[in-house]
Amino acid sequence: MLISQIEQTFCKLAKPDIDQLKAAILSLGPHLSEVKNYKTEPEQLPYGRNVLLRTDELEVIVIHIPGHQQTAIHDHGESVGCAYVVEGELMNTICSLDKDGFPQPEAYQQIRAGECFTAPSEQIHELANLRDESMISFHVYAPPLKDVKRYIPYVEGRLANSGKANQA
Ligand SMILES: [Fe+2]
Repeated sequence: MLISQIEQTFCKLAKPDIDQLKAAILSLGPHLSEVKNYKTEPEQLPYGRNVLLRTDELEVIVIHIPGHQQTAIHDHGESVGCAYVVEGELMNTICSLDKDGFPQPEAYQQIRAGECFTAPSEQIHELANLRDESMISFHVYAPPLKDVKRYIPYVEGRLANSGKANQA
C-alpha cells in the first residue's frame, strides 16, 4: 500500500523543490504510519537505510537510527531534501565549515514525530538520536543523492590536512 502510494505521489514530480517535496510527503497522510514497517537494522552504517524508490528525479529512503546513534557529518551534494519523523525524536545539527575546512556546529533543531525538516543543497548536517527509543524517518531527495561528502570534526592533536573527506 505504502509503496504504490509513494510511486503515485513521487513519480509525477519533475525537478521538485523543497516545498513540493514537503507537500508530497504530507500528502501521504495516514500512509506515513506504514513507514515503520520498512525500517531496516544497521549493517555497515550505525543506522538502517532502506531505499524505497529511486528514479532519475528523486530518491525516497527510510532511515532508522537506534537510540544513542548518529550519522556522520555530511552534505547531500547538489540534492535538496525533506524528511518526516515517523517515530521517536531527532536532533539535527547544522554545521558550517571553519577557515580550515573543519565542520563547526551552527544551529540545532529538535524534530519530533509528526514533524518535517528540510535540507537545502550544500547544507552540512548531522542527525542524532539522543533518546533510548529508535528514531524512524522518511526522507526524499531530489535529484537522487550523488557525490555526498562526509566531514571529519577537528580533534586537538590529530594531524590532518583538511577536515573534508570523500565518502567511502
Ligand atoms: Fe542528511
